[in-house]
Amino acid sequence: MNSMWDSLWVNVNLATMAGPGYGAIEDGAIAIVGGRIAWVGKRSDLPSATARETRDGNGFWMTPGLIDCHTHLVFGGERWREFALRLEGASYEEIARAGGGILATVAATRAADEESLFASAAKRLRPFLAEGVTTVEVKSGYGLDLESELKMLRVARRLGRELPVSVRTTFLGAHAVPPEYRGRQGDYVDLVVREMVPAVAAEGLADAVDAFCEGIAFTVEETERVFAAAKAAGLPVKLHADQLSDSGAAALAATYEALSADHLECTTEAGVEAMAAAGTVAVLLPGANYFLRETRRPPVELFRKHGVPMAIASNCNPGSSPALSLLLMLSMACTLFRLTPEEALAGVTCNAAKALGFDDRGVLTPGRRADLVLWDVAHPAELSYWIGGNPCREVVRSP
Ligand code: NIG
Repeated sequence: MNSMWDSLWVNVNLATMAGPGYGAIEDGAIAIVGGRIAWVGKRSDLPSATARETRDGNGFWMTPGLIDCHTHLVFGGERWREFALRLEGASYEEIARAGGGILATVAATRAADEESLFASAAKRLRPFLAEGVTTVEVKSGYGLDLESELKMLRVARRLGRELPVSVRTTFLGAHAVPPEYRGRQGDYVDLVVREMVPAVAAEGLADAVDAFCEGIAFTVEETERVFAAAKAAGLPVKLHADQLSDSGAAALAATYEALSADHLECTTEAGVEAMAAAGTVAVLLPGANYFLRETRRPPVELFRKHGVPMAIASNCNPGSSPALSLLLMLSMACTLFRLTPEEALAGVTCNAAKALGFDDRGVLTPGRRADLVLWDVAHPAELSYWIGGNPCREVVRSP
């Protein structure tokens, strides 16, 4: 063979995440053509192709680019006062019912112009990029009127154009009932279903539709209406499910073949079985679990038993998870949820890709995007082990 590769990495250990044991290939090599992986294997098996550029991996480990599959990165203001209130004993639900919580961020987001929303979201996004994140999902849901929701989604799309990251956007109009619809929740769901979902879809601003199915948010029936509208608009769905109580939301998500059900602290075995049958990914959010000082844990044993893929995400948001580090979420997923370090890394690579409906990334195999991260670690388990610090040495991102 004498084809020409654009670049070739040698002297590198590969956590391909394609197969058990991290899909590890020690003393490996990986070749790239046109932003795609062209060849992966042991250096000793390298075919005799030439490369325009050969890079030395210094004996470090390389993983797929990290994927943060659940964030609320675009928002106005912050909520540190609320944090102090919770430390004094107020619950997340009490603060929300008193008009704080998500609605406090809705007021700040509505008041913010697009430029300042972009600037603050970009500032939050940069630490993730420095830690090897190459794909991020961003939800709306702090606008709750059509123009403000569109504004959030435009800002999210702009992040993907102006920063070195792929952005997947999710419309979350059914996140909370806005103040002007207080006591008229059904009317607000009508607005989401009849106007917002079709408008967002028509403008091509959302890749999926999400909802918050919970006692303090939307019922199963209301969520079903939102999902039906999403399906009619040709958009896949995701769901904030069973975070604070078990409402059967995970099973509902599965009924609509949701890409993912997220949070899941209160999900029962019936919900897990339904997710397994539908191929719905469990997105675990240890940052919210930690920050809300939640003691219930998602049923990790049941996900393993039924073969439900588990993803991990930062859930970066001002109320329940002001997290700016995806690596820290790996550590928390292991300590709080008892994931293995390998499961945690799969949670931000191959399984996070599934949670976003991608089949072109998340593993290092030929044909996939050449989104690669080089880490100064002696073993990939170290990515879940250190608390703080950043061993990322280089990020390669497919254009
Ligand atoms: O995923 N649970 C609902 N939504 C966010 C929290 C949003 C907020 O408190 O501002 C979450 O945790």
